[in-house]
Amino acid sequence: MHAAATATSATQADMAGAGEPVVSVRGLVNRFGEQVVHDGLDLDVMRGEILGVVGGSGTGKSVLMRSILGLRQPNDGRIEVLGIDARSDDEDDRRLIERSTGVLFQDGALFSSLTVGENVQVPLKEHHPDLADSLRYELALLKVKLAGLPADALDKLPSQLSGGMRKRAGVARALALDPPLLFLDEPTAGLDPIGAAAFDHLIRTLQQALGLTVFLITHDLDTLYAICDRVAVLADRRVIACAPLAEVEQLDHPWVREYFHGPRARAARQARDRNDSGDGDADAGPGAEPTSEASH
Ligand SMILES: Nc1ncnc2c1ncn2[C@@H]1O[C@H](COP(=O)(O)OP(=O)(O)OP(=O)(O)O)[C@@H](O)[C@H]1O
Ligand SMILES: [Mg+2]
Repeated sequence: MHAAATATSATQADMAGAGEPVVSVRGLVNRFGEQVVHDGLDLDVMRGEILGVVGGSGTGKSVLMRSILGLRQPNDGRIEVLGIDARSDDEDDRRLIERSTGVLFQDGALFSSLTVGENVQVPLKEHHPDLADSLRYELALLKVKLAGLPADALDKLPSQLSGGMRKRAGVARALALDPPLLFLDEPTAGLDPIGAAAFDHLIRTLQQALGLTVFLITHDLDTLYAICDRVAVLADRRVIACAPLAEVEQLDHPWVREYFHGPRARAARQARDRNDSGDGDADAGPGAEPTSEASH
């Protein structure tokens, strides 16, 4: 990341810290039979930040995201999304949360029989059924370009795209309704390092350009170091820390030590430091063209 971009993100993190929570979780409990996944979990996501969510496999990151989105009824606790009760079964509340949250699920989940353009139009059709077909098409094209895909991707089936392009198509669909909140579950999993860095750059650029708040589940240390303003650590059925990376790294917890102080973390830190000093080109700041395989 260039120094200028770093300064921008630091300012945004400060602003985010000073801002109000757009997602607030208190006392969350999730159980599956005997298995307790969350037990009294608290978390705030601040307006305008990119919050990285990390934790060992099976610690309940995806279940937390599904609970926040109201896709899973937790066993206990309070969750508010933009001040709306995520557990509400009121139809208007549900639709408002749906319209305010763009989601890229862990398994990608594009409709395989629909083109990319048709996939992006699905939420538009559902929430704006009166929109003229031509306008819906134009909007889908805009979102596809925003996600860094070439215009001709619009008429392709997901199976005709590379993994990285499919992720971008998922982002285009997540942005269809101009949501203020973006939820991403392991978006760089399965991408090669260059594709993953380009995707990180896309997320940072979109977040800055559109003023998004991003909830980003990841195992990817490079992503954490490159673009996250704060990091929430899930362990022992709770969020054991939620703070800027430099603070989280210092935590005295076995999982944190292993994760943040192993050789992979050292490499990710070095890559971040190289980019900060201006040698890297993975994050050229807002407004720059995405540089992935997808833009060719
Ligand atoms: N629908 C379900 N029924 C039963 N158990 C479930 C269900 N969904 C999740 N679980 C269990 O809850 C735990 C947390 O799952 P979750 O998918 O949230 O983990 P995760 O932190 O996202 O892991 P990963 O990093 O591997 O994606 C796991 O043990 C999982 O098996
Ligand atoms: Mg998961």
